Amino acid sequence: MKIWIIGTWYVWLIQALWLAKIGFDIICLDIDKNKINDLKNGKAVIYEPWLDNILIETKSKINFTTNYYDLNNCDIIFVAVWTPQDKRGRTNKDFIHKASISIKDNLNKGKIIVIKSTVPVWTNKEVSEILWEWFDVVSNPEFLREWKALDDFFEPDRIIVWFDKNKKTDIAKEKIKKLYDFFIKKEIPYIETNWSTSELIKYAWNSFLATKISFINELSQLSDKVWADIEKLTIWIWLDKRIWKKFLNAWLGYGWSCFPKDIKSLIHQFQENWLGWKIISSVDQINDEQLDYFLSKIQDFYDDISKKTFLVLWLAFKPDTDDLRESRAIALIEKLKINWANIYAYDPLEKARENTKYFYPNINVVERLENFENIWDIDWIIIATEYKSFKELNWQDLKIKVSMPVIFDGRNILDKEKIINIWFIYKKI
Ligand code: UGA
Repeated sequence: MKIWIIGTWYVWLIQALWLAKIGFDIICLDIDKNKINDLKNGKAVIYEPWLDNILIETKSKINFTTNYYDLNNCDIIFVAVWTPQDKRGRTNKDFIHKASISIKDNLNKGKIIVIKSTVPVWTNKEVSEILWEWFDVVSNPEFLREWKALDDFFEPDRIIVWFDKNKKTDIAKEKIKKLYDFFIKKEIPYIETNWSTSELIKYAWNSFLATKISFINELSQLSDKVWADIEKLTIWIWLDKRIWKKFLNAWLGYGWSCFPKDIKSLIHQFQENWLGWKIISSVDQINDEQLDYFLSKIQDFYDDISKKTFLVLWLAFKPDTDDLRESRAIALIEKLKINWANIYAYDPLEKARENTKYFYPNINVVERLENFENIWDIDWIIIATEYKSFKELNWQDLKIKVSMPVIFDGRNILDKEKIINIWFIYKKI
């Protein structure tokens, strides 16, 4: 079976590579010639562990093009274009509409069009209208996480599909089932549902995870006031088997990839249906406030942070990615800079450091932490991203570089006892 994938960025490239690895022939299309050239030369346009190796491994099964006409011999077409937010926070559907029009104008009838992009309710119906009864439209949302995308592809929690009803639906159903046969055999739930459920699930899923994060973050502020221990409190909540422990860490809050965008889109979907939205709008607000709250903790410790020098450890929105979008570390650095603080910042991933230098040239990026040789006159240290490897840093050596040994841990990852034992003052969420 030949599969064509429109879009070559994150989720879409991963899909392409793994489907090729399973044995399907893939053609990836992107209108960006530079991206396609990079991919043809085996250069990954995103960062994921093992990605370069898989690009080499699947070389013979995967082709890249910028031309819609190349794709007429494919059975299934995955539409995985970008669905960014517009200025008002709604989902911008222009890319998905344009891709649908290009399919209609350039391709032979009878293809199966699978919508993978995260799209608000009604979008699949709109695509169906653009494509008339000439093509079968299938909604099949994607749930990959950055950095874990390769694992998530092979171990999905479920596969959700909706088939638009027209005369060829049975053939489409058969082909999509065949496509996912590898997963169905592994007993991964394969669920057919109606169009709006299939569209809403991604928003519900991401918003629920973000809600858990904001719930515990809000509670952490009360805990501080009444001298309760938020970490212990969280563990004891987890002990109830009905509450799943993941995404219940009181930290600095969430960044990209999709929580902020999907929450805003969901709010608009409530609005468009004349419904009130209470929980969901607080989730984003609490996430923003958590950053200010953390900053106020720093300022409580020392009122005037102007001219103080901070070493901010880790820059991306989560560990092992080069993605800086809505990263809490970057947002915090910007707030510190408004208060005239000086910043050194470090991320172990070269690509994340490069992106920081490119997008935020006013941030002083440190290239290496070994021996801390290029770091001078730090006043305080901030941990902004939840890298576990921080624990292995030689804090004793680093202490020599710090005028006032204080660590503000925005991810509660350090062992308080150990760090206090080596004479650091330790402040956490
Ligand atoms: C998220 C979802 O987890 C995926 O299922 C979804 O497919 C993807 O968005 C998407 O819509 O594309 P991702 O954003 O890559 O995946 O990363 P997560 O591991 O979910 O982390 C998101 C943010 O939450 C990070 O900034 C992380 O630091 C933060 N986080 C996570 C917390 O602040 N607290 C926690 O307890 C856990």
